[in-house]
Amino acid sequence: MEKIIREALSGHVAETGGLIIGLRHVQERCQFVPSDTVRIAAELFNISQAEVRGVISFYADFRDKKPGQNHIRLCVAEACQSVGARAIEEDLLNRFAVRMGETDASDFVTIEPVYCLGLCSCAPAAEVNGELIARVDAQRIVDEVGS
Ligand code: FES
Repeated sequence: MEKIIREALSGHVAETGGLIIGLRHVQERCQFVPSDTVRIAAELFNISQAEVRGVISFYADFRDKKPGQNHIRLCVAEACQSVGARAIEEDLLNRFAVRMGETDASDFVTIEPVYCLGLCSCAPAAEVNGELIARVDAQRIVDEVGS
């Protein structure tokens, strides 16, 4: 794992914004940002571990755990709430027997809240396995993950 993290980060040390780009590459390769990344990034970028933690914790897109086989991000911000996002949320959590922000017991799905996907004009919106879906409903999400 350390080798993968070093490879993902090391090409971005001299770039402006390189830490964020490197962290994104770590997440792409590992599906999350392993805790060792903090130490390795601090060493490579010659910054404190607190600074690395600050960047990771500031951006909600960085995960500290590997998601389930399917990763659902449901928008629960105002525009989506006004057209039923909370009902979709409740439906999904019941169907998959999972709590918001967690992975179900069979590791099939992770459902996370997100606060705007930039699709407000065609809300409600979700992202399923990296694909944005506008005017979504719970059944569409279930169909997307193939359960
Ligand atoms: S509020 Fe849901 S996409 Fe903007």
